[in-house]
Amino acid sequence: MTFTLIATTTMGFEAVLAREIKALGYKDVKVFDHKVEFQGDYRDICRANIWLRTAGRIYIKIGEFEATTFDELFDKTTALDWAQWIGKDDKFPVADVTSRKSALFSKSDCQSIVKKAVVTQLKKAHSCETLPETKASCPIRIQIENDKVILSIDSSGSGLNKRGYRAHMDIAPLRETLAAGLILLSRWRPEEDMLMDPFCGTGTLLIEAGLIAKNIAPGLNRSFCSERWSCIDSAHWRYVRQEARDLIKKDAKYRIYGSDNNARALSIANKNIELAGLPDVFVQKRELSEISSRYEQGRIITNPPYGHRLEEQPDIDLLYQEMGRVFKEKFPLWSYYVLTSCDYFEELFGRESNKHRKIYNGGIKCWYYQFFGRKS
Ligand SMILES: C[S@@+](CC[C@H](N)C(=O)[O-])C[C@H]1O[C@@H](n2cnc3c(N)ncnc32)[C@H](O)[C@@H]1O
Repeated sequence: MTFTLIATTTMGFEAVLAREIKALGYKDVKVFDHKVEFQGDYRDICRANIWLRTAGRIYIKIGEFEATTFDELFDKTTALDWAQWIGKDDKFPVADVTSRKSALFSKSDCQSIVKKAVVTQLKKAHSCETLPETKASCPIRIQIENDKVILSIDSSGSGLNKRGYRAHMDIAPLRETLAAGLILLSRWRPEEDMLMDPFCGTGTLLIEAGLIAKNIAPGLNRSFCSERWSCIDSAHWRYVRQEARDLIKKDAKYRIYGSDNNARALSIANKNIELAGLPDVFVQKRELSEISSRYEQGRIITNPPYGHRLEEQPDIDLLYQEMGRVFKEKFPLWSYYVLTSCDYFEELFGRESNKHRKIYNGGIKCWYYQFFGRKS
């Protein structure tokens, strides 16, 4: 039996996510804004959760229909087979509601109508009078756009950016899914190119690169809410986890280095690197002006400070000018990939990018500037 699975992502990463899904062997892959849909069975729910690096969450589409009245929303929701997924004792919060350009715009009304409809269907299907909602969680998502309703269940639980390697959260790091996306967008080949991040902070880009280089599934060391669902045989989870362990390239050769001028960020980076199981990823304390490499070619992928307060801007402008000088002088043949919110970065950096693309980093509009070196 197959279902439609929905992998969500942030704007700008849909094509990368589709590439990841195809690489896992799925064929009927459809790309939309912020999401990619594909077909899969129970085992594929486990596989998608464990493997997809740029997906925010994996949903199972339960139904899709037009509705412009609450009666229609109720009737069409009741007609869906919720009991296939939600057990008699399971929780099913209707937590996530979005509505755009639709007659049904009141989120709280849609929420309570869908809840009521699901309760009605589950009581009938499970032949019971009450639903205690004490066991596994099956969070329901409602998306309405142009009067088309999509109802789905979240199989991930907490967002897939939570890989389980983050020891400390007090310094705002790059989101893991975004960092993985930046690496994948750059089409970095670990066996060929050294990778360096001179503003590595807590090491997110380095760790995501390391996981890619060793083919470590990003979700291997965390749990998912669908692991507790009775409809998915736990043997599927065991199989997919073992498969992921077997696919780790234990002897992978790669060179990943990071530096930063903040000792505290670096000590967190070291803890995160250790938790991620990547002893070959190295970081050191360096000012931008001090960085160097003995390799003639390589790749810098980095997320320098943006400076959101007005008074910080002159310093940031000077830093970006310094980046231009340092990269040109010390890494003349390397490729550079820089994520920043600065619209005029190229001017300060002193070079026009070969490509740039818009990317949102936690709601901040950014640009991913890509400067190709000799080998790209
Ligand atoms: C946006 S943060 C990078 C966050 C990182 N990607 C992460 O996931 O934690 C920018 C980093 O640049 C570092 N930094 C700022 N100015 C620097 C300089 N002149 N030389 C080296 N590092 C610098 C800061 O300490 C900070 O950790």
